[in-house]
Amino acid sequence: MSVRESREAIVRADRRHVWPPYTPADAHETSEPLVVVEAEGAWLTDADGRRYLDGNASWWVANLGHRHPRLMRVLAEQAQTLTHVAMAGITHEPAALLAEELVQVAPRGSSSAPVLTRVFYTDNGSGSVEAAIKVATQFWRQSGRPEKCRFMALDGAFHGDTVGAASLGGVEIFRRPFAGILFDCVRAPSPSDHGAAFEVMEQLIRARKDELAAVVVEPLLQGAEGMRMYEPAWLARLRACCTENDVLLVADEVFTGYGRTGRMWACDHAGIAPDILCLGKAFASLLPMGAMMATDRVYDAFRGAKDRAFYYGHTFYGHPLGAALAREVLAIYRDEGVVQQAAAKAPLIARAMQSLGSLTGVVAPRSLGMVGAVDLGNGGYEGDIGWRVYAEAKRRGAYLRPLGDTVYVCPPLTISEADLLALLDIFGESVRAALAG
Ligand SMILES: Cc1ncc(COP(=O)(O)O)c(C=O)c1O
Repeated sequence: MSVRESREAIVRADRRHVWPPYTPADAHETSEPLVVVEAEGAWLTDADGRRYLDGNASWWVANLGHRHPRLMRVLAEQAQTLTHVAMAGITHEPAALLAEELVQVAPRGSSSAPVLTRVFYTDNGSGSVEAAIKVATQFWRQSGRPEKCRFMALDGAFHGDTVGAASLGGVEIFRRPFAGILFDCVRAPSPSDHGAAFEVMEQLIRARKDELAAVVVEPLLQGAEGMRMYEPAWLARLRACCTENDVLLVADEVFTGYGRTGRMWACDHAGIAPDILCLGKAFASLLPMGAMMATDRVYDAFRGAKDRAFYYGHTFYGHPLGAALAREVLAIYRDEGVVQQAAAKAPLIARAMQSLGSLTGVVAPRSLGMVGAVDLGNGGYEGDIGWRVYAEAKRRGAYLRPLGDTVYVCPPLTISEADLLALLDIFGESVRAALAG
């Protein structure tokens, strides 16, 4: 079978039987997908041998690029000995030592000792948020405050697609079909849109402190809403306000963690540690795995009688392959200085976004660490202009999936400077072509 025929067979099967995420059904059956056969470093290769720069690090996951040689080696080695086992009455080296290592690297705020000392493994980012919601609820119930069972989240928040995580979400198109089954949140204005968001946030927390279990935020960067960014000062004030009012703070670093914003954690920009931290995406680099981390105070509320345990978990909890990879991810970050390297390249993204700001039709050029974005219209997630950029970029050799009218770059942190400059050139040319067309 020639490559061309096999490509068509793949597309036929995909159109006929795959139900792809976030994709209108009719568009799926008519648009031409990229049929990717290989990925390495910052590059994707399709069935016709064409190469594309991975401008969104494959949904913000491939911070270390694709097929990092050290991860490939660990994957093969771990597969020789242990691939899955029920983590109940059983433990194993990858999960146990990973927990120890995560505790050391997790945000500490101003403390010299680790603050987040307990690790609960999950299969993905939504699972980490779901676990955080349940832990926070049960924490207050077992601390004699069962009425503290509501959550505050931001306008434009995105915390995942499971029902609990989606209830926290504030992106309308992801909520609307499920409105009838989502739980109600206290909604605060996003600091990315409102200068006065400090006061409103503080008033809401003070007024609702007796019913709030936790405030859940994407620190500094609201990704899915359209790469909305806000100042560390807001996060620092949120931390202080949660402490003063005895409300837990959940930092969802599923996207922002692992160096994406120029520091290991977005929380580090504000010098804070949350009570609960949610991790996913880059966590195990190439397998679906994440974690929820919590403080001793939170964990200690689950001690005592049998019915105080956290009756929650998933079949693949602590997966040996994922955990071995996640340990190696941390080792690579340490040995290769991944965060420092990324911070050094970030100004290239900042400059490229700023230079696009002078074009008519480009609004709000912005960047934070290894993320850069511009808006091209006000259609939000349902806007079409970003898709014109997507098509132009594809022709020029880059994969730049938009968020409706917001277009962004979010490449692997390890992308070479030359490839990053090439990606930014394609980004600029594609924006210009889309606006002209
Ligand atoms: C901040 C944040 N939290 C949670 C999630 C959900 O992660 P997953 O898709 O792995 O369930 C995402 C996904 O984009 C995210 O950006």
